Amino acid sequence: MEKNKEIVLSGIRPTGFLHLGNYFGALKNWSRMQYEYDCYFFIADWHSLTTHADTSELRLNTRRLVSELIAGGLDPGKCTIYAQSDIPEIPELYLYLNMLAYKGELEKTVTFKDKARQQPENINAGLLTYPVLQAADILIHRAHYVPVGKDQEQHIEMTRNFAERFNHRYGEIFPIPRAFSYSKDLVKILSLDGSGKMSKSEQQMNTIYLSDEDALITRKIMKAKTDQGPTAPNSKKPEYIQGLFTLLGLVSSPEILAGFEYDFNHCHIRYGDMKKQLAEDMIRFISPIRGKAAALQNDPAQIDEILAIGAEKARKSAAATLLEVRKALGFKYH
Ligand code: ADP
Ligand code: TRP
Repeated sequence: MEKNKEIVLSGIRPTGFLHLGNYFGALKNWSRMQYEYDCYFFIADWHSLTTHADTSELRLNTRRLVSELIAGGLDPGKCTIYAQSDIPEIPELYLYLNMLAYKGELEKTVTFKDKARQQPENINAGLLTYPVLQAADILIHRAHYVPVGKDQEQHIEMTRNFAERFNHRYGEIFPIPRAFSYSKDLVKILSLDGSGKMSKSEQQMNTIYLSDEDALITRKIMKAKTDQGPTAPNSKKPEYIQGLFTLLGLVSSPEILAGFEYDFNHCHIRYGDMKKQLAEDMIRFISPIRGKAAALQNDPAQIDEILAIGAEKARKSAAATLLEVRKALGFKYH
């Protein structure tokens, strides 16, 4: 990796199959950034324990995720790909940052409140301090940019706060990182029924996965929620309709998008036709990724090798930061 490039870091939990939200919210930016920055992308397997205590499928999920990330555009020759659990420097930094994170702000975090609602029987301390571990992931490489989807904005804001508190108290060690997207705003892909974001834990028929077969993609899109269409010209689109237009904008040509926009604004849109077109373009987008990921998964030794090389590079960077952190804190007795 060349020296003096700014540092980019992002991660994803190995908790399920990659979907369009992960692709357009994260991976698409990652794939482009690897050519411009010094990039670290990792599998957040420790984070997954906060909600998925069962580790029996962790290895399988991690390998599949790495395959999907590479199939979706990451080049292990251009960026560093590693597993969080291979970097013991992260939990040490997490420990220091925990002393700079306050119970009140952690309890107010939107993702914490959501997860606490979803799993009231398991509101563990890891869930509460999830943003602190995430901050350690980011700060351990002294990252400048963190490409993530809109849902992660608050975590990045918290990371900035922890970094500022550390710098203020112990000395300027960390750059203050920023959430990043090439598009004007951070991306949010809606679930196909328009209710909230597309996510791994949503109803599977409302989520399109990069591993979905062609027929299933068509079935999901044809079932997506629509209505009778607008009755007044240039109406505001309901969220579930906007969601379909967003997808069209991402996988179809600008002419096709403009055509359906025109039909919508002139109140003669036929959603059946629009969905058929979307399904066709979605299949053209997904099927090569699906094929490449399947081929890679058949070669776990190659994936493990990529993770081993990534771990070595990531540890070098992490150890250098931790040395500075320990010096700043005064933990250097001999
Ligand atoms: P999930 O919410 O499905 O569990 P993760 O939390 O593992 O997915 O998210 C991994 C990355 O994908 C993050 O950068 C996140 O911002 C992005 N992401 C997830 N879902 C969406 C979505 N619906 N729209 C945009 N980005 C998303
Ligand atoms: N919290 C992120 C998510 O749910 C995953 C993650 C963990 C992450 N550590 C990170 C993302 C560091 C960016 C940077 O998607």
